[in-house]
Amino acid sequence: MDENSRVFVAGHRGLVGSAIVRRLEAEGRRNLILSGRDALDLRVEGAVEEFFARERPEFVYLAAAKVGGILANSTRPAEFLRDNLAIQTNVIHAAWKSGVRKLLFLGSSCIYPKFAPQPIREEYLLTGELEPSNEAYAIAKIAGIEMCQAYRKQYGFSAISLMPTNLYGPGDNFDLQSSHVLPALLRKFHEAAKAGAPEVVIWGTGTPRREFLHVDDLADAAVFLMRNYESGEIVNVGTGQDLTIAELAQAIARITGYHGGLVFDASKPDGTPRKLLDVSRLEGLGWKARIPLEEGIGGTYRWYLNRRAGHTAS
Ligand SMILES: NC(=O)c1ccc[n+]([C@@H]2O[C@H](COP(=O)([O-])OP(=O)(O)OC[C@H]3O[C@@H](n4cnc5c(N)ncnc54)[C@H](OP(=O)(O)O)[C@@H]3O)[C@@H](O)[C@H]2O)c1
Repeated sequence: MDENSRVFVAGHRGLVGSAIVRRLEAEGRRNLILSGRDALDLRVEGAVEEFFARERPEFVYLAAAKVGGILANSTRPAEFLRDNLAIQTNVIHAAWKSGVRKLLFLGSSCIYPKFAPQPIREEYLLTGELEPSNEAYAIAKIAGIEMCQAYRKQYGFSAISLMPTNLYGPGDNFDLQSSHVLPALLRKFHEAAKAGAPEVVIWGTGTPRREFLHVDDLADAAVFLMRNYESGEIVNVGTGQDLTIAELAQAIARITGYHGGLVFDASKPDGTPRKLLDVSRLEGLGWKARIPLEEGIGGTYRWYLNRRAGHTAS
């Protein structure tokens, strides 16, 4: 991929896609091919084929997907299955057909078996029962990985698949109904600090361990692997380090300047006790996460405050 290559980032307004755009623009690229859902619905096969024939991208980052929290996944499985199958099938096929040189697909750590041994190695994919609440999403994503591998095997198409852990960063979703744990806690603690609330209640016992990767680190890994990795084998992308939800909450309390108490509501479900990726394959290739968690959360908090200020001003 040289500086004049034609690069298409699908889903460039999303958390991951916008980070990939930032990462590529930071090295001076100005010729990215970007097209939002309003202009190009990736579920529509004919429109996608026409787009690829017209724009002739050489490299594709496929960061468009239907993504959601546990509530959306468990109440709208038909949409998660249909949209993701359609988006990835259309994009991967049109990319191959129009002569794209390389495509990068995104799986997710949440599509590994529910009871996978920890830390999770790449070979554990498809070795056990999936988490029922996001089964439709997981099956669509697994089909995407399989499609990349099948196109590589049958047609020699250069497609690679990454398995990112839980991501956070600028562009995250802070809506308490649908957000992930880290942005949800940031918002809760921010509001509690502002209101001078005596305590913040956190769901569960606080003991489950989770891993978090800054989305700018993921974008850096994606660009690195696009340039340096050539295999159908999936690659985990994470920090290789986890912490308890209680430790995460304490860090967020410090960052938001909250000085009240933390109460853990053990009557609420904890989920799986530990979720951590084994990142030895990625580190063996020469890439390591760089953004320390507290620094990354601090930056995300500043982004959130700026966005709130912008909304209030407008
Ligand atoms: N977030 C995480 O923690 C995480 C972890 C592991 C893996 N991943 C993977 O990373 C990828 C991106 O996730 P994300 O968190 O960046 O999601 P996101 O913020 O929801 O972004 C998804 C993007 O896809 C676009 N999109 C959805 N349906 C489309 C359609 N029919 N046509 C065109 N564009 C469409 C969205 O466009 P609009 O803006 O118009 O809706 C949005 O820009 C997914 O494959 C996900 O599985 C994410």
